[in-house]
Formats: sequence, C-alpha cells, structure tokens
Amino acid sequence: MRQITGRVGREELIEKITREARKGRHLLLTGPAGIGKSTILEAVIDRLIVRRDLIVLHVNEHQAKGQFLEIARDLLESGLLKPSALELDADLDDLDPAALEWAKIKRSVNRLSIRDLTAAIIPAIHAHQGRVLIAVDDLTTVTPTLVAFWLAILDAAQIITCASAKRPNVARLWWKLAEIEIPPLSVDSAREIAQAYLTQTGMLVESPALFIAHVVQQANGNPQALADLLADSSKERVVDKQRIREMRHAAGVRYFDFTPVMIVALASIIGTRYLAIGTGDTELYIFAGMLAAVVISLRVFLFRGAGKAN
Ligand SMILES: Nc1ncnc2c1ncn2[C@@H]1O[C@H](COP(=O)(O)OP(=O)(O)O)[C@@H](O)[C@H]1O
Ligand SMILES: [Mg+2]
Repeated sequence: MRQITGRVGREELIEKITREARKGRHLLLTGPAGIGKSTILEAVIDRLIVRRDLIVLHVNEHQAKGQFLEIARDLLESGLLKPSALELDADLDDLDPAALEWAKIKRSVNRLSIRDLTAAIIPAIHAHQGRVLIAVDDLTTVTPTLVAFWLAILDAAQIITCASAKRPNVARLWWKLAEIEIPPLSVDSAREIAQAYLTQTGMLVESPALFIAHVVQQANGNPQALADLLADSSKERVVDKQRIREMRHAAGVRYFDFTPVMIVALASIIGTRYLAIGTGDTELYIFAGMLAAVVISLRVFLFRGAGKAN
C-alpha cells in the first residue's frame, strides 16, 4: 500500500509529534488498528535520526521477549552494551560491535529472561553520555508483569510507542506517556489514496467517482480498511472482466432471436395445411404435418441451447 500511495495527509501531525519528541517526552500514539500509527512513528523516527547526539532504536517485535531481545541486540550493535553483560564470552567485548554476528549469539542471549535482559539494558543506557530513544512499534499487548521492566527502561531512555487499546491493567505505564490520538484520515486524503491506487494499479472500474466515494465512505478514514477494500475490489474487477467476456459468449446465442423465424415458419405450415385440404392434395397435407413436427422440435433444441449458454 505504502509503495502504491505513499504517505498521504499526515504531514502536520508528523511534524507535531516530532516536535513533542524533541522535547524529550515519552509519547504514546493511540488509535484503532490500521489507522496509521506505525507509519507515523516511522516518519517521526526518520526525522529524529538526523541528530547525531541521539541514538534511536526501533523495536518492531510485538511479543514481549522479542522486544527486549531487540533492544539488547540494537544496544550491542551500537556498542552501548558489552557482550559480557549478556553472559556472552568476554573475549567478544574486544570485538568491533559491527563484527558481532547476531545469528551466532542469538541463541545464548535468548536463554536470558526478560529480567536478566532488563538488568543488562538499564545500566548500559545509563552509562551512555548522549540520549537514547527507543521507538516501540506496538505495546498494545503489554502485561502487568512487564510494567516494572518498561518503567525501568522509561527512566533510562525516552520511549515513543503505539497501542490500539490502553488496557486498564497496565494503567501505571500509560500514565507515564503523553497520549497523542491519531485521528482518521480526512475524506480528501482517503480519496487521494483511492485515486492513486486506481491510477497505479490500472484497475478497471465502470464508474470511478462512484467507486471512490463508496470505498472512502466504507473505510471511514482508516487507511488499512481502505487498502483492504481496494485490494478486494481489484480482485473482483478481474473476475468482472472475465464475466463480461463470458456474457458476450452467451449473448451470441441469446441475442439471436429466433421468434420471427418461428412465426413465419409456423404460419407457412398452417397456410400449406389449409391449401392441401382445400385442393384435396394428400401428399402436401402430410408434408405440412412433418414440417410442423420438425420446426417444433427444432424450437425446443434452440431454447435449451440458449438456456445452457447462460
Ligand atoms: N497516511 C497514509 N497514506 C497512505 N497509506 C497509509 C497511511 N497511513 C497508513 N497507511 C497504510 O495503511 C496500513 C496501516 O497502517 P499502519 O501504520 O500499519 O497502522 P497501525 O500501526 O495503526 O495499525 C499500512 O499498509 C500503511 O502503509
Ligand atoms: Mg502498527
């Protein structure tokens, strides 16, 4: 979707959030799934990252253990965390952090509990002179047992995160974060996305204006909903084209109307029958009867054929 339509209608919001982040605040972006939180967070990170005195970690994992592992890994690679602090071979401490191969050490680090990981992460961040910002893509599923660990990280680093719902059992964590609600996209932006999608995918739509108005209304300002609706109908359109082609095949049979031919044929047969009776021509009378039988049975076959083509 992003590749197709870009990032539409969020410029001001991204700028506002970036300004808040520069003040060093912990931020929580909220809004329903698909509203565009992750997209906005990414854009904010891109703008913050240009400052050299700031180290930015971007945590994409949604599961708790994975999130703490990702933080540890990023800190290892940026040189803030020494391998020995994660119970790795102390010889690795002398290595250039860029030379560390995560694939090789991941299994050992994975053995540590979230508590162990936090115990290594916190002092490493504290020991760093400059600022550290941790952008966590999604904390919706955070559990009460994890709150203490996140609060400890909050004390050491700045956090920007997203959640589609603020579970009340972790309210202690939410209190520490300044909430910014991500509003639905404006109708104009949604329309722009739909229009761009039609143009770029070359989707065939009978009435584009009506179609766009329909999907924009259905999506209700949610870009993910918009993407799903557009993707669904783009599939449908392919079927539709196929269907139009099939209909044309059927039309070849259906639209050749045999009715006038039948009426003329039956009228001639009836006429011939009377002619035969009037002139007493027995052979002509029999011939007319046979012709009637042939035309009637032909009619039955023709209609059955048209029925099948449908
Ligand atoms: N402003 C936007 N313009 C175009 N596409 C967008 C925009 N915001 C989000 N999207 C697309 O919508 C989808 C959902 O966005 P995402 O940021 O993952 O939502 P959330 O994190 O709130 O669930 C993604 O495919 C994303 O590329
Ligand atoms: Mg997200």
